[in-house]
Amino acid sequence: MSKAPDMAVEFAGLRLKNPVIAASGTFGYGVEFEPLLDLNELGGLVVKGLSREPMAGNPPPRLAETPSGMLNSVGLQNVGVDAFLREKLPRLGQLNTAVIANVFGETTEDYVEVVRRLEAAGGGLAAYELNLSCPNTKRGGITFGSDPALTREVTAAVRKVSRRPLLVKLSPNVTDIVPFGQAAEAAGADALCLVNTFVGMQFGLAPGQPPIPAKTAGFSGPAIRFQALRLVYQTVRAVQIPVIGIGGILCGADAAEFLRAGAAAVQVGTANFYDPRATVRIVRELEACCRKAGIRHVRELSNNSQESERDSPKSRA
Ligand SMILES: Cc1cc2nc3c(=O)[nH]c(=O)nc-3n(C[C@H](O)[C@H](O)[C@H](O)COP(=O)(O)O)c2cc1C
Repeated sequence: MSKAPDMAVEFAGLRLKNPVIAASGTFGYGVEFEPLLDLNELGGLVVKGLSREPMAGNPPPRLAETPSGMLNSVGLQNVGVDAFLREKLPRLGQLNTAVIANVFGETTEDYVEVVRRLEAAGGGLAAYELNLSCPNTKRGGITFGSDPALTREVTAAVRKVSRRPLLVKLSPNVTDIVPFGQAAEAAGADALCLVNTFVGMQFGLAPGQPPIPAKTAGFSGPAIRFQALRLVYQTVRAVQIPVIGIGGILCGADAAEFLRAGAAAVQVGTANFYDPRATVRIVRELEACCRKAGIRHVRELSNNSQESERDSPKSRA
């Protein structure tokens, strides 16, 4: 039998045992999944977006299944940063996996304050991920993710108070994602995460009664994978910092595809809703993909993509 491939990856000051991370908002605070899988098998997990104060989110129904993905208008429901520190972080801090705090706010000062409180609490967290792009509610930071100057402003402000790696999560709902990635990089981001959900819409069968009351909702899942892949590929080539690929990843081959586009790691979101063990399954499937392709280190997938790009006749021309 061939030797097991080395699945560890290192980027942005993080060392992960594998490149598979559970995406924010689709994995609770991680602890809810403990009865279902061994969280220590994951490369990392990103907790539900945290705000200064607790938020109740939107009234139900707020999830709708579609043939190719999911619509959500959860509205950034969360326990708030203080309850997170009291009730969730003590257990999360005992895990042998990278725990990443997803942060959002209505103003730059809100982002700064949430990160300041997380910093003051001491250990247990590996990094921060700034959500600049949630399209569900006005409180989700859509303005930060739709104007490169605001992307730069909030990233720079959080950078000043953060001693941990700072990941900035971009919205795909822009004409050109590259200036947003470059703005975050210039302001001190250590890595970019893309993408968040696309803005979608659904009407119910009864006139005037959409199944999701908010009408517009975040669209995620397999239908967005190819767009996400293109945005990752494009951004990887426009910035120097690492990029984490997110969007419709359902299996190890999907994850490998993002790594081949140049992503340093991947996040798995919607798949957790129909298969709560999707993350650990994807770790195993990705390992099997590497073994089958004779790859000894998973990082070769990302490295090779950039090597072959440099060597291709088109890039030499
Ligand atoms: C129900 C739901 C809630 C989400 N909540 C958050 C959130 O709080 N913060 C955030 O940055 N992204 C949030 N996201 C976006 C996901 O983390 C991910 O970027 C997106 O769903 C695309 O990946 P996927 O196609 O694998 O789901 C949420 C997504 C869903 C489906």
